[in-house]
Amino acid sequence: MQTVVNGKPLVYLDNSASSQVPQVVIERGSKYLREEHSNIHRGVHYLSQRATTAFEGAREKVRRFINAREARECIFVRGCTEGINLVMHGYGRKFVSEGDEIVVSEMEHHANIVPWQMLCEEKGARLRVIPMNDAGELLLDEYEALLNERTKLVCVMHVSNALGTVNPIKEIVARAHKQGVPVLVDGAQAAPHLKIDVQDLDADFYIISGHKMFAPTGSGVVYGKAELLERMNPFLGGGDMIRTVTFEKTTYAGLPNKLEAGTPAIASQIGLGAAIDYLNSLDREAAHAHEQELLRYATEKLTAIEGVRIVGTAREKVCVVSFTIEGVHPHDVGTILDQEGIAIRAGHHCAQPVMQHFHIPATARASFAFYNTKGEVDRLAGAVAKCVEVFS
Ligand code: ALA
Repeated sequence: MQTVVNGKPLVYLDNSASSQVPQVVIERGSKYLREEHSNIHRGVHYLSQRATTAFEGAREKVRRFINAREARECIFVRGCTEGINLVMHGYGRKFVSEGDEIVVSEMEHHANIVPWQMLCEEKGARLRVIPMNDAGELLLDEYEALLNERTKLVCVMHVSNALGTVNPIKEIVARAHKQGVPVLVDGAQAAPHLKIDVQDLDADFYIISGHKMFAPTGSGVVYGKAELLERMNPFLGGGDMIRTVTFEKTTYAGLPNKLEAGTPAIASQIGLGAAIDYLNSLDREAAHAHEQELLRYATEKLTAIEGVRIVGTAREKVCVVSFTIEGVHPHDVGTILDQEGIAIRAGHHCAQPVMQHFHIPATARASFAFYNTKGEVDRLAGAVAKCVEVFS
């Protein structure tokens, strides 16, 4: 990307909101649109078969990427928000009743709070919240104390978009399973940075968004253990999810179709497959080490600036640096950085309870990907120092 913003080469540090799309991924989506465009699963004709093969090929790539047992356990959705809502409607509305409890954490994105609140309101169930400490780490003993015979589901994020914290998901799942409670993991922020193995984590549901892992918007996946997905109700009704329809009764297709009504975002999901190929072509361990070095360097450079406070200092983090500057509103920080050609996000990051924990309205957040550099951290630190100067 060679975009120039306000006369300066763009430094893109808003990867947690949406990552950039590599040329090979753009090419693969375009090839489908140019040469293979047709609907899937419906036609005996040549193009429809090619489109179906590419689409189902992407599903198999997802299966391998997250190490699911079977491709039918990978349900294509438009992104994490839709995925969590799919589980809420298909699983939650069927299995949660009055007096039951759903456990979420204090650091969740609104997408993993609001659907569960809606369910609780509808059913007369109760939302319980795992607290965190001031570093932005979940308190596991307090979490365990929340689990009881009324708990129907634990919903927790793998990596915090607002703080960068990597949560101990394997441990969280193990503690829930000891009590027979299934766990849904919001993996939106983990997939671009960490190796995901749903069998090793033993997650019951694991949800990813393509556009945060170098694929186009409109792509994403709900992984679910087959026995849970099979017991779920469909989320949307319509074409492609049925076996038979009469006016008296409809019977549903098997997995994954039962949970994929209508024509999906075919080009985007094929693009997700290409993004996975792209990620697999990298040395992911080296990319991770590079991101960790960027995290260390950015934290050091920003902390050295007077008035800057890092929000989110967990021992295990991905390269997300949320910060405040004394006396400067984060939105002003975002605007001044934009004038310097630096894209960050300023706001509550769809995690208002996190802001409430720290008694702040918002933070400025620089979020990195493997393609960012130390030179870009230097530009960020220079612009933040300029903000301090302008407002002092
Ligand atoms: N959830 C996205 C973010 O953190 C939009 O910016």
